[in-house]
Amino acid sequence: MTAAPALAGKKITLCVAGSIAAYKAVLLARRLLAEGAELDVSLTASARAFIGPATFSGLTGRPVLGEMFAPDQAGEPHVVLGKASDLVLVVPATADALARFAHGRADDFTSALVLCAACPVLAAPAMHPSMWANPATVRNLAMLATDGRIRLIGPVAGAVASGDIGMGRMAEPNTIFDAVLRTLTERQTLRGVRLLVTAGPTTEDIDPVRYVGNRSSGKMGFAVAERAAELGAQVTLIAGPVSLPTPPGVTRVDVQSAESLRNALWHVLGGDLGGTDALVMAAAVADYRPAAASLTKLRRSDAPLTLELVPNPDLLAEIGRARRRTRPVLVGFALGTEDDADAVVTARRKLADKRVDFVVSNHADESIGRDDIRAVLVGPSDEEHVPFGPKRALADRILARVGSELAARRA
Ligand code: CTP
Repeated sequence: MTAAPALAGKKITLCVAGSIAAYKAVLLARRLLAEGAELDVSLTASARAFIGPATFSGLTGRPVLGEMFAPDQAGEPHVVLGKASDLVLVVPATADALARFAHGRADDFTSALVLCAACPVLAAPAMHPSMWANPATVRNLAMLATDGRIRLIGPVAGAVASGDIGMGRMAEPNTIFDAVLRTLTERQTLRGVRLLVTAGPTTEDIDPVRYVGNRSSGKMGFAVAERAAELGAQVTLIAGPVSLPTPPGVTRVDVQSAESLRNALWHVLGGDLGGTDALVMAAAVADYRPAAASLTKLRRSDAPLTLELVPNPDLLAEIGRARRRTRPVLVGFALGTEDDADAVVTARRKLADKRVDFVVSNHADESIGRDDIRAVLVGPSDEEHVPFGPKRALADRILARVGSELAARRA
């Protein structure tokens, strides 16, 4: 007996907007159909300048949509499909399409459908890097991120149609297909869970232009936030200074120093720690800050400069001490430079000192700034070795363990 195709019975509406990347939507359509999806395709007026309806109607066996009120068509297809679709895809999503979605426009079929959609909407941006970086686009994307209804896949950095290189190239059809599969088939194991994640470094001012800080890209914490949102959690991400986009559906609070991180943490936690179900403390909090930050720029001189540093509070330990019962679940990180055996001993000591449920122990050379990581999850009496792999895969292991901790508390 052969297994049913992964997307059997799933109703997907693929909206193609006007970009040279429109031809890649054909490859995506073929994969979706091969996996059994019931596919409707709509083309905007400008998409039709790049690719013809016959290509898609030939593949799907259905008429291509795109006009709000075509003469031979009864009812309101944008409303009907908005209700009936399991997923709406916008591939490619041009700067213009994203601007329309951000402003709730409804004067063409694709915008009206996205406005009506009662299902997840995924959009794969494609545009010249200058359009992607333009403040108007940045503003529109921030609005979409706040609304949290449309998840973006990509874009990626690379060559665009003009030959220029930069951010704006559409994600490859296989990447978009994987995101579709995850969205439609992944179990929402963290639905209803409120998760607080911290990520990135903190920077401690020496003067208005200089700081003390540590090397942290924020990638690990962002991966945890992104995966948790994909698994249905309600995620708040407190981020130190990093240059990473906000994962879809995640509420982000930006901070700079350990002190501002502390304020943001307690604001979300509330005095009784009831504001979240779990905290994943991936931030690399600076352990020290200058005793006094100068309000004006320190002038250079040939004499040596001595900087007095004072310790920052240990934020995680503070929360561990304030926890009266077992909620929220607390997850710490321990970044070291020792070998595995010593690192586990250190992690277990941190676990006890900071009163957390488990610690993610990792080695500086195998994590800082990288997209992949190797780590050991250290509990009070067990350890789980997670081999080298993408930070998203480690995020999955951390979140699975958070899920088990929460289930144990419910039992
Ligand atoms: N942490 C914190 N506040 C600090 C320092 C660290 O909340 N001032 C948190 C980190 O977010 C991390 C964990 O504590 O989850 C461990 O951080 P790490 O720097 O590895 O450990 P330290 O306790 O600072 O110990 P050491 O630097 O001696 O290894």
